[in-house]
Order: sequence, then structure tokens, then C-alpha cells
Amino acid sequence: MNPLLHDAALRASRYLAGPDDRPVSPGAAAIARLAELDQPMPEHPQPADAVLRQLDEFGSPATMASAGGRFFGFVVGGALPVSVAANWLATAWDQNSANPAAAPATAAFELVALRWLLDLLDLPRDAAGAFVTGTTMGNLCALAAARHAVLERAGWDVEADGLFGAPPVTVVVGAEAHPTLFKALGVLGLGRNRVFTVPVDGQGRMRAECLPRLAGPSIVCVQAGNVNTGAFDPFAALCEQAHRDGAWVHVDGAFGLWAQAAPALRHLCAGVSQADSWATDAHKWLNVPYDNGLAFVRDANALRAAMSVTAAYLPTPGAARIASDFTPELSRRARGVDVWAALSALGRSGVATLVERCCAHAQAFAQGLRGAGFEVLNEVVLNQVLVRFGDAQTTRDVIEALQADGTCWCGLTQWQGHAAMRISVCSWATTDADVQRSLAAIVRLAPTEPGSRSRDPPAPR
Ligand SMILES: Cc1ncc(COP(=O)(O)O)c(C=O)c1O
Repeated sequence: MNPLLHDAALRASRYLAGPDDRPVSPGAAAIARLAELDQPMPEHPQPADAVLRQLDEFGSPATMASAGGRFFGFVVGGALPVSVAANWLATAWDQNSANPAAAPATAAFELVALRWLLDLLDLPRDAAGAFVTGTTMGNLCALAAARHAVLERAGWDVEADGLFGAPPVTVVVGAEAHPTLFKALGVLGLGRNRVFTVPVDGQGRMRAECLPRLAGPSIVCVQAGNVNTGAFDPFAALCEQAHRDGAWVHVDGAFGLWAQAAPALRHLCAGVSQADSWATDAHKWLNVPYDNGLAFVRDANALRAAMSVTAAYLPTPGAARIASDFTPELSRRARGVDVWAALSALGRSGVATLVERCCAHAQAFAQGLRGAGFEVLNEVVLNQVLVRFGDAQTTRDVIEALQADGTCWCGLTQWQGHAAMRISVCSWATTDADVQRSLAAIVRLAPTEPGSRSRDPPAPR
């Protein structure tokens, strides 16, 4: 056996056995040690095992223990052991997954994974799909396809001629669209600010009755899973109105689109399949390693037109799917292998159980927090919980104390004018015991009544 790879596997296994027994945030000493890495580049070769040892000794203790069951920050999925293992094996293969001529095995796994995903998420079975780095890039690819299609209908070839002199494109977003959607719009030349904004309700859902009548090339961006509340836009009404006016509807479903795969939650997505494109993350709720996101586009030709690449030395489109005709990159790793492994191991029922279990944990958090007298700000429909502990400063203080305590990790957000703590449950590794232990820490550290602070010392690290 290759001793280096064996050593790496042992170190990784040791690391993954540990996150539940250590504070979730890394200690100050481990972070301070990272400064020692700032050395001049070695002039001469070093033994590979020493390099790996340094990586482990400096890196592992300074990681956030998001692989464990008590990291609830941002919207961060864990990584299923099978997807980590598949990722290692595919990394050992080191296939350039641009096209099947260069990487026949990974092309086959990716094709199957895409077919399974379209079925699982109940999207049009003949939609085109692309494995990308995350939903930011998923949004970008899908919106590039949208830009192509709406301008083509107006007689304009945007890939060939760019946007200078093109017919104007109307872009509609909800007031609670995710910041990365604006990033994608900016990169595509559609403008971060040149949008019509539809107001939202108290949960962040677009108010369908406020969608304007649209004329000419138009794109309406909707959302499955608000990053704060987990709320879903009313897709059926929005799609119907937008399509009546000939607009393209794009869904940012970074985590919320996975509700489609969970029978108990599917109702939240009603109408989502009527859209024209969708972006989601596999590294969030499917719990595969970073970085792994997806774009799906109903009109496969629109995505291909936006992304295709040709050169004399590249394979020409034929019967086999050429991945680089659907993705921004030419060379890339086989992200679909990790997805295939996760879907194979979980099966349809396993994905549903994973998603539904996280949502049940979110309900338990909300119930426990309300029971302890704290204000939960959102309707907990999915996996996101927003809570505040009195005024903004007190809420910030509780979050800081919780992060320092290390039992669990939750972050600060702003929700409709209020500072709030956001709890996002998105990992296979979270258990009922993790939720109860985290709730106990929050209740211990939060003020027992407005203006007072718990005098209990933080838990030992
Ligand atoms: C609704 C929404 N859209 C887009 C993104 C960006 O996803 P990524 O970080 O995978 O690019 C997120 C991340 O949390 C999100 O919640």
C-alpha cells in the first residue's frame, strides 16, 4: 500500500472521529499557530510524509468542526462518509472530466447522477444539467442560458455579439433574493442594480400580486428556501404570470429545492417544476464534500449555447454528452462522482429521511427556544430557525458567548430590521442529542430575563 495515502487515510479517519468531542470553533492557540505557516517557499524538496504531517498538525486543530453534528452556521451541509470516500477515490483517478474521450468512467457516473437528480427533484427529465462549484455558479450558468434564450427570441445572439447594443433585458428579483444571485447578474452584464424588485411578505416570500406585467426579453428570479427563514416563493402563481408574458423563470434553490425529494415537505415547492431553470447545491443538503453545485435548464440547447466550447482538438458533439458544453470550465474534477455515491448509498428514501430529519431538528430547536421564553422570528417550515434574545446587542452578545463556549456554532444575521441568531440544520451528523445539548448551551448562555445575563461560567473547552 502507498504509505502516504495510507497515512492520509489514517489522519482523516482520526480527524473525523473527533469533531463531536471538541469545541466546534477552533481554539485561539490553534488559530495563532497558523501564522507559523507564513514561511518562505522551500528551496528544495521536502519528504511528502513531513508535508502531510504539517498539514494535519497545523490544519486539523484550526478547522471549524462542521463535520460534526453541532455546526449550525450559514447553511453548511456535512459530508456523508461514502461521499468523502468516493471523492478520495475519484481524486486518485485524477480524471479531467471535460469530456468522455478524456474521462469515460466519470462521464458515465455523472450522466447517471444527473438523470437520478432530475427524477428525485422532479424536474423535466430531458433538462440539461451541469455540475459546478456551488449555487453561485449554478445561478450564473442558468442565468446565462436564460440570457441566451430571451435575447435569441428578440433576434440577438448574445454569445457572439455581447450585450452592447442588445435589446434591454428586464430582470425581476424578490426583495429577499440571495446576494450571490446579484453577483451572477453582475458577472453576466445584466447588472446587480438594474433589476425590478418585487416586495416580499413577513417570511421573505415574493408577493405574486406585485409581479409587474412584462414585455420583451425578461427573466424572473425566484427562490426555494430563503437563507434566513427557509421560506419558498409562490412558484405556481409566479410561473403562470411570468410565462403568460413570455418571461423565463429561474429558481435559486440552493438548499430549498431538496424539499422536492422529501414527501413531507414537497408541498412547499408546489409549482417549482414549471420554471425554466434551477440552481441548487449538492454540498448543502445532499451532504457531499465542497465544492459541488448544480444547474438544470429545461431548454438544453439554451445552456449549451451559453456554455459550449469548440476547438479543433476537442471532440465534436455526437451521441455522447460533452460536459464542457454545459459548464463554464473546460477542465474540471468529476463532482458528479460524489453525488452518484451519495445518491447510491442513501437511495430515494435515505435522501427524504436526511432532509426531513434536519427539519424535525429545526422544529425541536424552535420549540425548545420558545419554551425557554425566547422569540423565534420565523415560521419554521424547513431547516432554518431565527431567534433573538432581546435587543440587538444582547443577541450579538449571546452569539459571541455561544461561539466562544464551543458546544455549538450559530451565526448572526439580520432579519427585517432585527439582529437575530440563525440556526441552520443541514447535516446527516446532527442527532437529537446534539440538538438538546446545543439548546441547553443556548439557554445557559442567554439572559434569563431581558437585561440580565446568565452568571454560569462557560463550559470547559
Ligand atoms: C438561497 C441561496 N442561494 C445561493 C447561495 C450560494 O450558494 P454557494 O455558496 O453554494 O455558491 C446560498 C448559500 O447559502 C443560498 O442560501
